[in-house]
Amino acid sequence: MSGTLSLAFDAALIPDSVHSSVPAGLELRPLASGDYARGHLDVLRALTSVPDVGEAAWEGRFAEMRDAQPRAYYPLVLVEQGRIVATGTLFLERKFIRALGAAGHIEDIAVDKSQQGKGLGRVIIAALTAVSEAVGAYKTILDCSEENQPFYVKCGYKLAGVEMAKYA
Ligand code: ACO
Repeated sequence: MSGTLSLAFDAALIPDSVHSSVPAGLELRPLASGDYARGHLDVLRALTSVPDVGEAAWEGRFAEMRDAQPRAYYPLVLVEQGRIVATGTLFLERKFIRALGAAGHIEDIAVDKSQQGKGLGRVIIAALTAVSEAVGAYKTILDCSEENQPFYVKCGYKLAGVEMAKYA
């Protein structure tokens, strides 16, 4: 079904083991051109304030992510009846340490309010973690609120360090 779409990354990076955990009626796939109209920004509003930048600007950012070289962005979505119900992104950070190793950063996880508590967040994290390992990251990390910590523990993550931030 996603074969005709322009995808942000190679769908084959998402392993069958993760696809088999997707609830019936939902499709797990990379973010695709046209997902603006399928409610990508609406879903992200479960996470934070997301102004409507319009379709052309959304497509511009999508193309930047899809075409970045070396490849660094792996945004993916869960789709139900043509509407996006959950999303998350893996960012691959290339390093000098660890013999030119790479670290995967999980970012911007959001499940539509009406769909929370049905295991979709867990599927998104499993998929992003699998993609991170498939592209060779030696670790996968993320920042979250204390409130969400139990969710990530259930996804197999453990506390390691303290997040620091300075907003512009
Ligand atoms: N506290 C305790 N347990 C939780 C929480 C929580 N806040 N959220 C989920 N869980 C548990 C569930 O009960 C479930 O446990 P079980 O397997 O024993 O039944 C398990 O974690 C998996 O839960 P899911 O149903 O997969 O969670 P959901 O689909 O609701 O997704 C998420 C969780 C992503 C936090 C969602 O509620 C959401 O979108 N919240 C608003 C946006 C947000 O906070 N995003 C995360 C920001 S951090 C980041 O982006 C790196």
